[in-house]
Amino acid sequence: MSALRPWWLFFCLSVLGHDLRGSQAGSAPSAANTLVWGPGLEASVVLPARFFYIQAADSSGKNLTASPGEKTFEVKIVSPVEQFTRIWIQVLDRRDGSFLVRYRMYATYSELHIHVLLKNEHVAKSPFVLKGPVYHEGCNCPQESGSAWEAHMHCPQSFAQIERDLSFYPSVDPDRNAQEIPQRFGQRQSLCHYTVKDNKIYVRTFGEHVGFRIFMDAILLSLTRKVRLPDVEFFVNLGDWPLEKRKPPEKLHPIFSWCGSNNTRDIVMPTYDLTESVLETMGRVSLDMMSVQANTGPPWPEKNATAFWRGRDSRQERLELVKLSRAHPHIIDAAFTNFFFFKHDESLYGPLVKHVSFFDFFKYKYQINIDGTVAAYRLPYLLAGDSVVLKQDSGYYEHFYKQLRAWEHYIPVRADLGDLLEKIQWARDHDEEAKKIALAGQQFARTHLMGDTIFCYYYILIKEYAKLQVTEPKIRKDMEVVEQPADDLFPCSCHRTNVKDEL
Ligand SMILES: *[C@@H]1O[C@H](CO)[C@@H](O)[C@H](O)[C@H]1NC(C)=O
Ligand SMILES: *[C@@H]1O[C@H](CO)[C@@H](O)[C@H](O)[C@H]1NC(C)=O
Ligand SMILES: *[C@@H]1O[C@H](CO)[C@@H](O)[C@H](O)[C@H]1NC(C)=O
Repeated sequence: MSALRPWWLFFCLSVLGHDLRGSQAGSAPSAANTLVWGPGLEASVVLPARFFYIQAADSSGKNLTASPGEKTFEVKIVSPVEQFTRIWIQVLDRRDGSFLVRYRMYATYSELHIHVLLKNEHVAKSPFVLKGPVYHEGCNCPQESGSAWEAHMHCPQSFAQIERDLSFYPSVDPDRNAQEIPQRFGQRQSLCHYTVKDNKIYVRTFGEHVGFRIFMDAILLSLTRKVRLPDVEFFVNLGDWPLEKRKPPEKLHPIFSWCGSNNTRDIVMPTYDLTESVLETMGRVSLDMMSVQANTGPPWPEKNATAFWRGRDSRQERLELVKLSRAHPHIIDAAFTNFFFFKHDESLYGPLVKHVSFFDFFKYKYQINIDGTVAAYRLPYLLAGDSVVLKQDSGYYEHFYKQLRAWEHYIPVRADLGDLLEKIQWARDHDEEAKKIALAGQQFARTHLMGDTIFCYYYILIKEYAKLQVTEPKIRKDMEVVEQPADDLFPCSCHRTNVKDEL
């Protein structure tokens, strides 16, 4: 079709389109001034989905603050040696002038060139050359030196939560724990006993409901493909509730759990949900920390000023919240999508409503985060949106809560919700401040809750815990090997192990 049009008409049309878009978004992006950065531009950062960022800037160097259009930037990833690259790429428009680009490689490449283009013009320092080998997620090729891996990953020096959790355990004795922990918890709880030895994983399960073991197996397998883990032996709690209720000077048992609480001494890890979201990014149908960034609803001024909540009846305060909503429907829209734990009294708690897509939550300015069985595992995703989070004070926490600050990243609400209406009113009366808190929470999620940091967290936790061991970790009776999945389709040759291993 375009062949039938004179070239100048095409030219004028595109200039016109360009100007219109430019005036809507403030200004047009410039290829030279636009910024491109992130771990996905580095060959040595191996992640299930690699990612990097684009921040559009105009000809005067000013950052754009609104989307210049979803298709503004084109990203191509090519290998100079292979004709076809099996790489899935997605450019996610965060609609604030920045983009998140993620790509998943299904094979290992000796070199990759990442082209970031704006109307066929190279952006910033594009093409970015990744000198390989550039390993894909499935490639079993651990970096022998943990400190080199940490440096490549730009891991933080430490995590305050890890330091605090381990401070209750000046030393750990694998021999004694192997005896005592199954005796104390193995009958009534669902536990996994893991040993990592020579970077191979061994496990024994206790209890009936051990299905959630797949998440822990998966992150350990993924880690051992990337970096050599120290020999270590530890127990993972597969249930919702943290277990170690004893207090010093009573003898404590170290247990790794997905959720911590003010009354327990469990060692917290990122939740299985967040962990899975990192491992399965781009394969996952539901929510993940990246897709949520491109689905944050209408811009702030157009968001509905009713506070929003959906969920199931897993806690008394949730019932209170729905009652409050029924009494003040113009302030709170809270309803149940499922009744399971309590007897459903429709006259009190209203009819069940249809499930709402999580992305639609962000049509609302105020998001209520309220505990379920334990901490509500949706907080990472709520923070990543551009609504402000009203967080119920809670004795339960996830691995990152200690880094969050009330009034900076979220608006605090009392545990009994007694001040919820008042806090929503505050937010309505202080729109600019509420928006600022929303964006600070979003920035927190973008900085601290992405895949690279989650891998760092697990690695540093295991490394620091391993240092506390006073007896040698052993492969215990009845442990089975957790095998790496076969990657027959796209085998990789690992250049980090010695040649003998490759044959
Ligand atoms: C533009 O955005 C980048 C990336 O978020 C940021 O580092 C930089 O400080 C911003 N520049 C200005 C002038 O605000
Ligand atoms: C805002 O949301 C509430 C509750 O969902 C709804 O009743 C109301 O109509 C919405 N307001 C606007 C302006 O859309
Ligand atoms: C739990 O502990 C934190 C800090 O140690 C505190 O701020 C919070 O109020 C406590 N919450 C509950 C419900 O116990």
